[in-house]
Amino acid sequence: MADSPVMNGGHHDPWTRHNQMVLEPLETNDPEVYEIIRKEKHRQRYGLELIASENFASCAVLQALGSCLNNKYSEGYPGQRYYGGTEHVDELELLCQKRALETYSLDPKKWGVNVQPYSGSPANFAVYTALVEPHGRIMGLDLPDGGHLTHGFMTDMSCLVYGFYTSVQVNPDTGYIDYDRLEENARLFHPKLIIAGVSCYSRNLDYARMRTIANENNAVLMADMAHISGLVAAGVVPSPFEHCDIVTTTTHKTLRGCRAGMIFYRKDNYESLINQAVFPGLQGGPHNHAIAGTAHAHLRAFPSSDPYEKSSGSANFDIPYRDLLQVLLWPSNKQ
Ligand SMILES: Cc1ncc(COP(=O)(O)O)c(C=O)c1O
Repeated sequence: MADSPVMNGGHHDPWTRHNQMVLEPLETNDPEVYEIIRKEKHRQRYGLELIASENFASCAVLQALGSCLNNKYSEGYPGQRYYGGTEHVDELELLCQKRALETYSLDPKKWGVNVQPYSGSPANFAVYTALVEPHGRIMGLDLPDGGHLTHGFMTDMSCLVYGFYTSVQVNPDTGYIDYDRLEENARLFHPKLIIAGVSCYSRNLDYARMRTIANENNAVLMADMAHISGLVAAGVVPSPFEHCDIVTTTTHKTLRGCRAGMIFYRKDNYESLINQAVFPGLQGGPHNHAIAGTAHAHLRAFPSSDPYEKSSGSANFDIPYRDLLQVLLWPSNKQ
């Protein structure tokens, strides 16, 4: 049994102990962890961060993430939960869905979005689970050519469960994706799903061409826009929504929210399959604090008419770019 105040000689009454455990800030409650966070903050502030998959979440996003929503279990979906006391998280999840659809100018009659995936990799696995039977065939861009682990790299779980064929490759002479080869390979391989997504490819994808290839093979076309979701929101790169059936994304890269994932789907064919794959298929309780952070990130990601914001990439890119400038100019412009 853990030491109780009484066993300790009764020096502290239970409420003092309770307050210490529950209310005391991290700085004094756990100086060791606090110190590590402080060092990381210093590193992020004064180092030069040029990692494409990272971003700086705003104070508001971090506040949502550090809120009491962390405490709430709510397995299920708004209006259909396995727990009581979910009226506020229902409201939150619906708000997050609404903002997500508005961010990408999607018609809520045609498109739905699941905002519960814990991150980008679980979001992708949920789509495969929903739409492809075990050992069913999927085609994605090879990792060394710029694809992501979850697009079928041999070490990824998806590669063990599904028949991945990472034959979407770049032409070594041009550095561009070889769409002719993709077309030929798809004719041989007859994939059930084709992934249009990249982690490390500096060109826009030809979604229209990939749609034609998918149609020819009766395949589902899924975009993974994790890296570019903020740019799509700002309207500075082509949107995958016009051509794709499903669009997955992370929310912490160019979208600049907290760590989470989302799955957009065409409602007619995929709504219940996707929702059931996320819960109860692969996940338990949604991370409501992350859904709050994502909901807020969408508020700041709406397409902007401000030419400065557009030119800097995404509607919410103004702050990081200003931060970056400040870091580059430091210490001459210390404020
Ligand atoms: C294209 C793409 N999809 C999915 C992911 C996976 O996201 P997470 O690391 O949040 O699981 C990444 C991560 O970098 C990515 O680049």
